[in-house]
Amino acid sequence: MSFIIKVIRKRKSVRTYTGEDLKEETLLKIGEIVKSFNRGPFGNEIRFSLLDFKDMKKDDIKPPGTYGIIRGANLFIAGAVVDSPKAMEDFGYCMERVILALTELGLGTCWMAGTFQRGAFAREINLAENELLPAITPVGYNKDKRSFVDRSLRVLGGSDNRKKWEELFFLNDINTPLQKQDAGDYLDIIESVRLGPSASNRQPWRIIKENNQNVFHFYLKRTKGYPAKIGKVKVQNIDMGIALCHFDLAAAEMGKQGKWINNKPAVDLREMEYIATWSEY
Ligand SMILES: Cc1cc2nc3c(=O)[nH]c(=O)nc-3n(C[C@H](O)[C@H](O)[C@H](O)COP(=O)(O)O)c2cc1C
Repeated sequence: MSFIIKVIRKRKSVRTYTGEDLKEETLLKIGEIVKSFNRGPFGNEIRFSLLDFKDMKKDDIKPPGTYGIIRGANLFIAGAVVDSPKAMEDFGYCMERVILALTELGLGTCWMAGTFQRGAFAREINLAENELLPAITPVGYNKDKRSFVDRSLRVLGGSDNRKKWEELFFLNDINTPLQKQDAGDYLDIIESVRLGPSASNRQPWRIIKENNQNVFHFYLKRTKGYPAKIGKVKVQNIDMGIALCHFDLAAAEMGKQGKWINNKPAVDLREMEYIATWSEY
């Protein structure tokens, strides 16, 4: 199993933390990580801020500002991006790179796009008028025993399950499932997408591989009845950015060279939003 798949498998949403302070050295590393992964494949720049509740105005946010969902975390990372095309995908891409780097350091995180006090966090990071605050994550050491809320959310969301390969990946058209033996060298790379986190574990990513070519079209299949937006934040487009990030990291590790291009297939796929195509050089 490739290294990146191991890290991807290791990452789980952590909602219960020990409350321990992070070592100075770890804080410095986090500072470096958020600075280095701040531009997505579509060119949008992400402005990450590290927030320590100890320094925050207590009348502004009742720590930790997550409606009781996160326990024991003092440190959060919030990210802002200018509201522009593919901003959500770039945000998802960059923040997932940050989250995987933190996972490698043995730290716990949890993607949060819904259940946090957005207004209060926005004030803390001085969100500009043209910016959006798509998501935040707590950062800290996992507590072995999960809180009741944490355990309940995992069960309700079916967090440990993922859709089957044949529901997500296709060959040439949306009616032909991609068989694992037809994935060739890309088996682990595609699998890395399937293992990714997504909002409410809805897994809206779909990939159509072209026959006999290492060309992969990424689509978003919106979940019916699931809110398309929270304010202006398109949560399932963040999920797509996460998928692109996993594909890219796994491809790089497998020595595959390619790039993201805009090459929408001519067929019109109802209910699916075309995002991007990965094409091997
Ligand atoms: C974009 C995004 C937004 C999310 N928002 C929330 C949230 O607001 N609150 C929460 O408790 N979990 C949130 N999650 C966590 C998901 O519920 C979780 O990733 C999913 O159930 C899979 O579980 P896992 O992360 O442990 O693999 C979010 C995940 C993603 C990717």
